[in-house]
Amino acid sequence: FGSLAEKVQRDPSFSTLSSDDISYFKGILGEKNVVQDEERLAIANTDWMHKYKGSSKLLLQPQTTEEVSQILKYCNSRSLAVVPQGGNTGLVGGSVPVFDEVVINMSLMNNVISFDKVSGILVCEAGCILENLITFLDNQGFIMPLDLGAKGSCQIGGNISTNAGGLRLVRYGSLHGTVLGLEVVLANGDILDMLGTLRKDNTGYDLKHLFIGSEGSLGIVTKVSILTPPKLFSVNVAFLACQDYFSCQKLLVEAKGKLGEILSAFEFLDSKALDLVLNHLDGVRNPLPPTIHNFYVLIETTGSDETYDRQKLEAFLLHAMEGGLISDGVLAQDMNQASAFWYLREGVPEALMKAGAVYKYDLSLPVEKMYDLVDEMRTRLGDSANVVGYGHLGDGNLHLNISTPQYDDRTLAQIEPFVYEWTSAHRGSISAEHGLGLMKANKIFYSKPTATVKLMTSIKKMLDPKGILNPYKVLPHSIDSHS
Ligand code: FAD
Ligand code: MLT
Ligand code: ZN
Repeated sequence: FGSLAEKVQRDPSFSTLSSDDISYFKGILGEKNVVQDEERLAIANTDWMHKYKGSSKLLLQPQTTEEVSQILKYCNSRSLAVVPQGGNTGLVGGSVPVFDEVVINMSLMNNVISFDKVSGILVCEAGCILENLITFLDNQGFIMPLDLGAKGSCQIGGNISTNAGGLRLVRYGSLHGTVLGLEVVLANGDILDMLGTLRKDNTGYDLKHLFIGSEGSLGIVTKVSILTPPKLFSVNVAFLACQDYFSCQKLLVEAKGKLGEILSAFEFLDSKALDLVLNHLDGVRNPLPPTIHNFYVLIETTGSDETYDRQKLEAFLLHAMEGGLISDGVLAQDMNQASAFWYLREGVPEALMKAGAVYKYDLSLPVEKMYDLVDEMRTRLGDSANVVGYGHLGDGNLHLNISTPQYDDRTLAQIEPFVYEWTSAHRGSISAEHGLGLMKANKIFYSKPTATVKLMTSIKKMLDPKGILNPYKVLPHSIDSHS
């Protein structure tokens, strides 16, 4: 697959690892948290999609912020490049080394520090796995304001560093709103304590926002303070079929207006995406009779009054059915059925992986134009590929995925730069929620003006003058041609 990887040269200003370095790290972390085992390294060097592969020879597992600080201080003085790594579920080649960068694995920093039941504010370490936080909060009567298919492995620090969106953003907003504070270690080892637990704090620039979505390029997130909503017990999930994309769109507008405060998710997948799930994942079935529908929508409502919420949803669905927006649909009768419906949507990335090679695009576009791109891509690629559309319709976020038996440059050349040019022409974003990583570092100009990228580059230089933090990712390898 090599030819598909972004072609970058190893930065010669970085040192290579020596035995003295290893001894130093063993001195601060202890023998067992300095990992040189080949099997462990092979996993850390490979991304979730098996598309990007580095050749790191060292993985470090700090247990405290002070250890992270000592590691970075040392790496900075030695010019050793590093990659912060959470659950390694990132989809843009950002979480794995490109060459021999040292992997800083955050999984041992996995403690909940405090939870305030009055305010709903959770403070925890960055290596906490999202699903563990969800379970912890569930016992307290709260939920995380974000949820995503990778919850079993991704870490809150990784979520924050990618500014992950996910399945609940339509209701609870982005992490820029729910994260109240962060503790971050800078490239030189300085610890920035911004771990506030206040809803309101207008004392100067709100620097935590720089680190939300900066993909480990400006600092390592070590602790997090996040506002969590109370768990409401009336949850309903409907799995619906629509004949055309226009109906999905109209359904969204209606849902926002008529379900209002109880709407907690509005996801869609096209019939090709559903077919992939049905054909490649075990234990799944289509809850709707086997008629061909072109689109499927999953609507979730979350509220505090079972009778009222159910009535409201049923009235909405009846109205939508009578108006022809929905051609069929089913309302989950219990939690198991609700989870099964969710799996039909959340299982799409895994099903795509099982189907073969996948070219993955994560775009923000005006909702009314969004699906035109899928249609155009199908016309371009003909029978040579399976073009699939799904995503967070409620947030204007399309996941355009192109599935082929294997990767090849000819297919890639038909997809790119077309997909980026199309998105740019419609004033969309080439990364709605996955970040830029290695995959799209050089494509940033499709979504950001040169002056903005220059300022980002200056900020990077100021915070990480030697560029040791996650090199080759996020920012373009050169901005000269754009100035
Ligand atoms: P990693 O993959 O390990 O790292 C991601 C980036 O963050 C890298 O650049 C890494 O260097 C950096 N990083 C990690 N931890 C830290 C830290 N503590 N400090 C500084 N930098 C750090 N994304 C969405 O937005 N919405 C979705 O719905 C969604 N669904 C997904 C479903 C599946 C099945 C999969 C495989 C992925 C999905 N993703 C989704 C993408 C991915 O899960 C998210 O980007 C997630 O937030 C990454 O978390 P992680 O802990 O795995 O981070
Ligand atoms: C999703 O919404 O399923 C994720 O972002 C993963 C993907 O885009 O495949
Ligand atoms: Zn997504």
